[in-house]
Amino acid sequence: MSLKVAERALVPPFIVMDVMSAAAAREATGERVLHLEVGQPSTGLPSAAAARLADRIATERLGYTVALGLPILRERIARYYQEAHGTTVSPDRILVTTGSSAAFQLAFLAAFAPGDRVGVAAPGYPAYRHILKALGVEPVTLPVGPDSRYQPTVAVLEASGERLDGLILASPSNPTGTVIPPEDLRALTAWCDDRGVRLISDEIYHGIVYGEPALSAAGLTPNALVINSFSKYYAMTGWRLGWMVAPPDMIRPLECLAQNMFISAPTLSQYAGLYAMDCIEELEANVARYAANRALLLKTLPKAGFDRLAPADGAFYLYADVSRLTNDSADFCARMLRETGVAATPGLDFDAEQGHRFVRFSFAGATDDMEEAADRLTAWMGRIGA
Ligand SMILES: Cc1ncc(COP(=O)(O)O)c(C=O)c1O
Repeated sequence: MSLKVAERALVPPFIVMDVMSAAAAREATGERVLHLEVGQPSTGLPSAAAARLADRIATERLGYTVALGLPILRERIARYYQEAHGTTVSPDRILVTTGSSAAFQLAFLAAFAPGDRVGVAAPGYPAYRHILKALGVEPVTLPVGPDSRYQPTVAVLEASGERLDGLILASPSNPTGTVIPPEDLRALTAWCDDRGVRLISDEIYHGIVYGEPALSAAGLTPNALVINSFSKYYAMTGWRLGWMVAPPDMIRPLECLAQNMFISAPTLSQYAGLYAMDCIEELEANVARYAANRALLLKTLPKAGFDRLAPADGAFYLYADVSRLTNDSADFCARMLRETGVAATPGLDFDAEQGHRFVRFSFAGATDDMEEAADRLTAWMGRIGA
């Protein structure tokens, strides 16, 4: 007899994972694959942080921490808000989490009830929708495009006519890299506060911007749940460490949820994050590399035929409208991988409706790889007559 699998568990897969396994299969045959599909830095924990961590491992038991996280790390994160944003955030409002992914689970559980409706941009990071669905919360798709820099605006929300209990914003965004302009973020925050809509602000790509720094919602309203991570700017994807700034009245419920669901974020990672926050020089060198990669691809991809790109204000992505080339971006990416060895992600992960027209290129890797990818794509597009 086969037993029940709960319907809530039947969330869609991450298509990028399928691309990654196809790329790995080609690599296993000895082919050199260029990874423009993965959204993670090719560098790791800053070296000075690694050295300090080695001492910590040698001298400490590294048991659980309290559920809210190491007090010294919460204080250091509070200092980050002061230094980077000129915003005073009490360490008491900060919760350290197992990546921003765990922060989403905690935030959605604490902020929403089953049946609530939460606005999510399309294109957008797919896990928001999938986690919401698994929790019985209804994701409300807000289609966005070049007119609003692929970001929700008050006009988009008003035009949608949707009644919302929550709204998720990501600036810079994955997959487009676009940043919400300060005046738009202020207007969106006020719109949410006026209507009792809980704002979840995903700020995981903060620090990786190519123009003005992105504004934090933490400085605009006490009501938002502001989520950030050590995965991107701090290049610590595998350490599984993130954080959340929450309104004071939500901290105790979040703490109790975290105690029960996670006990604590990994202790070693918490120390690693603490030390990484002091390695600004090395981290800024990473951002300089992303900027060089971005400049290189912005010069070469349009010439190759990928000429409709979202404005990549931040993060390490270029989101290309390839509708002139294909109506099936998954097939297009599979063919590109087969014929050029360049892996990229079809837009379907990010947008079920329009994603078949888009491809996401990640430029988080080495500059040499970007150069070679651009050469291979230029030659290939010439060959296929695009
Ligand atoms: C927009 C966005 N939010 C959140 C995450 C999850 O990151 P993590 O759980 O590693 O903090 C990602 C990962 O790619 C992302 O792109």
